[in-house]
Amino acid sequence: MELKDILTQRRSVRKFSDKAVEHDKIERILEQTLKAPSSRNSRSTRLWVTEDKALLEHIAQMRDYGAAFVRGASAAVLVMGDSAVSDLWEVNCAISATTLQLAVVDEGLASCWVHVAGRPCLKDEPEGRQAEEHLREKIALPESYRVLCVIALGYSDFEPAALPPYNGEQRVKWL
Ligand SMILES: Cc1cc2nc3c(=O)[nH]c(=O)nc-3n(C[C@H](O)[C@H](O)[C@H](O)COP(=O)(O)O)c2cc1C
Repeated sequence: MELKDILTQRRSVRKFSDKAVEHDKIERILEQTLKAPSSRNSRSTRLWVTEDKALLEHIAQMRDYGAAFVRGASAAVLVMGDSAVSDLWEVNCAISATTLQLAVVDEGLASCWVHVAGRPCLKDEPEGRQAEEHLREKIALPESYRVLCVIALGYSDFEPAALPPYNGEQRVKWL
């Protein structure tokens, strides 16, 4: 696919079909994602993948808002940074997560970002338990690993609408 088509087709999808995602597709997506640039070429991003239904359910429960749909995904990728490797792990992760979402489109799949870093489990308790702590209950993450987000993916269950207008005249200025 051409890059401009990938950028145009990418939409956040939160409803996935039951069709299993071929492993070679996921392998190619991860391989492309690992090519993303990173500060000082630190390559601090770590990608842990699961298709395990119980684990997808656990991830879906990490926040009481904006995460429940993960239980219906075919797979989820934890996009993490090794904070011992780069102080810019979070920025590196954001670049990786975006690259991953574009690679997903290139494989004819769809995805949605579910944020983790700095997000509480309960919306009404912003100072309470954090989504990352919830994930650590069932996933043995090294202490230095920090989770930026989870990318839920699968075959879309519907044809996503075209992107809304991007307001280029307000957001871009030639100096
Ligand atoms: C940093 C970031 C955090 C996001 N967090 C969530 C989230 O926790 N849950 C969710 O359902 N969508 C999340 N999204 C998806 C956005 O809601 C979505 O990208 C936005 O509404 C634009 O829609 P589009 O991706 O279809 O263009 C997130 C996206 C980004 C870039």
